[in-house]
Amino acid sequence: MSHNLYEDVKETPIYTKEEIQAVVARMGAEISRDYADKNPVMISVLRGAFVFMADLVRAITVPCEIDFMAVSSYGAGTESSGRVRILKDLDTNVEGRHVIIVEDVLDSGVTLSKLIEMFKSRGCASLAVATMFDKPDRRKAHVEVAYNGLVIPNEFVVGYGLDYAEKYRNLPDLCVLKPEVYTK
Ligand code: IMP
Ligand code: MG
Repeated sequence: MSHNLYEDVKETPIYTKEEIQAVVARMGAEISRDYADKNPVMISVLRGAFVFMADLVRAITVPCEIDFMAVSSYGAGTESSGRVRILKDLDTNVEGRHVIIVEDVLDSGVTLSKLIEMFKSRGCASLAVATMFDKPDRRKAHVEVAYNGLVIPNEFVVGYGLDYAEKYRNLPDLCVLKPEVYTK
């Protein structure tokens, strides 16, 4: 039996792919202006940020490099565990480099604040954060964000790279999962 992912999400997206693309273009222009001669390393936190990363680098018109890290904070549930484990480290030596951490969603801030601490200890020349979505209501740890995309309500969302139990990452819009999907 075929199963359409859109059956599991509320009908009206929080943000459509068109709204998201307009904001990504604006962020790409800002980064291009600020990093013209810096050849920044864009570091994406897997797996959720892979979609945003792919769009963001194509909105940047100056040289940049990319690398990936995988950390775990959520397991398969919808609440942060408050712990961050490095599952895959960088291949790039970031000492003396300008680093931009590319995040899908800033929620409690626990994951990012741990990553920022770690990057500072690795001696990068500068460090900035770009996040596509921000849930300010949920913040537990302060995180300074240089490039902010869209604010979202305190709801569990999927699509545009974000998952629930590894599903829905391929939805192009940002949607709210129907509660019956994760309570059943
Ligand atoms: P934090 O440490 O609580 O800020 O967790 C951030 C990470 O949790 C993000 O990078 C996402 O992977 C995940 N996350 C937070 N909110 C959501 C959501 O609404 N849907 C899917 N994943 C989320
Ligand atoms: Mg993530």
